[in-house]
Amino acid sequence: MLEVDHLQMSFQGQEVIKDATFTLEPGDLVHITGPNGCGKSTLFKAITGIYQATGGKCTLGEKDEIGALIENPGFLEFADLKSNLSFLAKLKHEFDYNYTQTFCQRLGLDLASKQRMSKYSIGMRQKAGIIQAVMEKQNVILLDEPSRGLDADSLLAFADLVNDLAKEGRSVVIASHDQVPGINYNKHYVLEQGVLTQNEN
Ligand SMILES: Nc1ncnc2c1ncn2[C@@H]1O[C@H](COP(=O)(O)OP(=O)(O)O)[C@@H](O)[C@H]1O
Ligand SMILES: [Mg+2]
Repeated sequence: MLEVDHLQMSFQGQEVIKDATFTLEPGDLVHITGPNGCGKSTLFKAITGIYQATGGKCTLGEKDEIGALIENPGFLEFADLKSNLSFLAKLKHEFDYNYTQTFCQRLGLDLASKQRMSKYSIGMRQKAGIIQAVMEKQNVILLDEPSRGLDADSLLAFADLVNDLAKEGRSVVIASHDQVPGINYNKHYVLEQGVLTQNEN
């Protein structure tokens, strides 16, 4: 689905990613951890093309589609949730209200709310960011620090959600400095000094 092959990313000679290599299979649920500043967000930006990698390559299958939440999701601040999500969906697809609604219900957001995004808390924005990464049935899902701002119940709902996505055969990669309990990862990596290494546990 996704092959990341000796990916490198430097900024003005500073090598942030020296070697990131991994392959995603359908249903993989992958954790990439490492401390603040180790390059987790940079790795996702290089995979999605927000940054042009300075070495190596990423190959995505022809039918595969990436859904990503990277750092702070940007929204149309004066518009409500439905307008924001339908705007994002319509860039490529139809907006599937009912399907999107299932994710909103699971995470405790109201898709029919008229509240503008500028009034949303960090946790609510984070949920909206997670939903846009999955609402178009994207099958390669990259979530960067997804638990930020989520309360205890929302963390449980989030873990259930990603476990279910993997069961559907979609691949999920979560980059986070911390652990979210209840996620059934099948692969663990650590990003340290620019090198991505697989752990056994
Ligand atoms: N656009 C950029 N220009 C220069 N340096 C950058 C840029 N983006 C990220 N970096 C640097 O890359 C390093 C890793 O950052 P980041 O990927 O945000 O780490 P993490 O997400 O693991 O906390 C940091 O030292 C950061 O300053
Ligand atoms: Mg980051």
